[in-house]
Amino acid sequence: MVNETPNGSLIGDVERFVEQGLYPEPGQRARSDYRNYDSPARDTVREFYRQNHRWQTYEFVSQQRQKYLGLNRCRMSIFEALDFLNTLVDDSDPDIDLDQLQHLLQTSEAIRADGHPDWFVLTGLLHDLGKVLCLWGEPQWAVVGDTFPVGCQFSDRIVYPEFFADNPDRQDSAYSTLHGIYQPGCGLRNVLMSWGHDEYLFHVLREYLPEPSLYMIRYHSFYAWHREEQYDWLCDDHDREMLSWVRKFNPYDLYTKSPVAPDWKTLRPYYSELISRYLPEQIAF
Ligand SMILES: [Fe+2]
Ligand SMILES: [Fe+2]
Repeated sequence: MVNETPNGSLIGDVERFVEQGLYPEPGQRARSDYRNYDSPARDTVREFYRQNHRWQTYEFVSQQRQKYLGLNRCRMSIFEALDFLNTLVDDSDPDIDLDQLQHLLQTSEAIRADGHPDWFVLTGLLHDLGKVLCLWGEPQWAVVGDTFPVGCQFSDRIVYPEFFADNPDRQDSAYSTLHGIYQPGCGLRNVLMSWGHDEYLFHVLREYLPEPSLYMIRYHSFYAWHREEQYDWLCDDHDREMLSWVRKFNPYDLYTKSPVAPDWKTLRPYYSELISRYLPEQIAF
């Protein structure tokens, strides 16, 4: 059930989508009609995007922002949030052996091993924490997957662009022109992105982390921008400067799989100290 049930397997599939080679290399046409009958995961991902592109409208995004951005759901420490997120464990797909915490740790440990600043390491650890939305009953198409602006024309370089044919905003004269409701150069901060874990976590952490970290968190699934080079017309110079950080983060998110799983028990004191350097004990979600 793509629509209703939190399921670690699908989240893993969708998050690994680029890695599976379905996204075109820059300069190639999207292989959007590709079907691989040897890989049921691929069709599951396809079905995921059919729903995502159908339901992520300007109105839906506005409603979700109303619902969540008051941050009055609960207060948790980062450790409590990590534990909570980790209840999203995949036990149905033998190919996906990473739980959510392992993905976060592998990302942060790879960033640390490359000698990046501490806030970059912390960003690796936290970047998917917004997936707690799943545990509050949100359908997966409203939590994970690639993100894109709503309120203007959908780029045909977004994955599975043909599914936007079913999005009601396509028929809306205000939202369906190239620029839609936006002034060119208005800056991404003034753009409504499709709703998911990226935008949500940005708002949860916005007071605490440095600007490049917040860009990595907010736009890490905006592949149409950071990989496909679309939507530059929405950007201002600040966005363009921050884009290099978003790109720097991406390989750690996608390709980090160390042969030896990081041991949370051993690493916990290091991360505990790192978290306390930037974040208060309790955070509003
Ligand atoms: Fe993510
Ligand atoms: Fe991730």
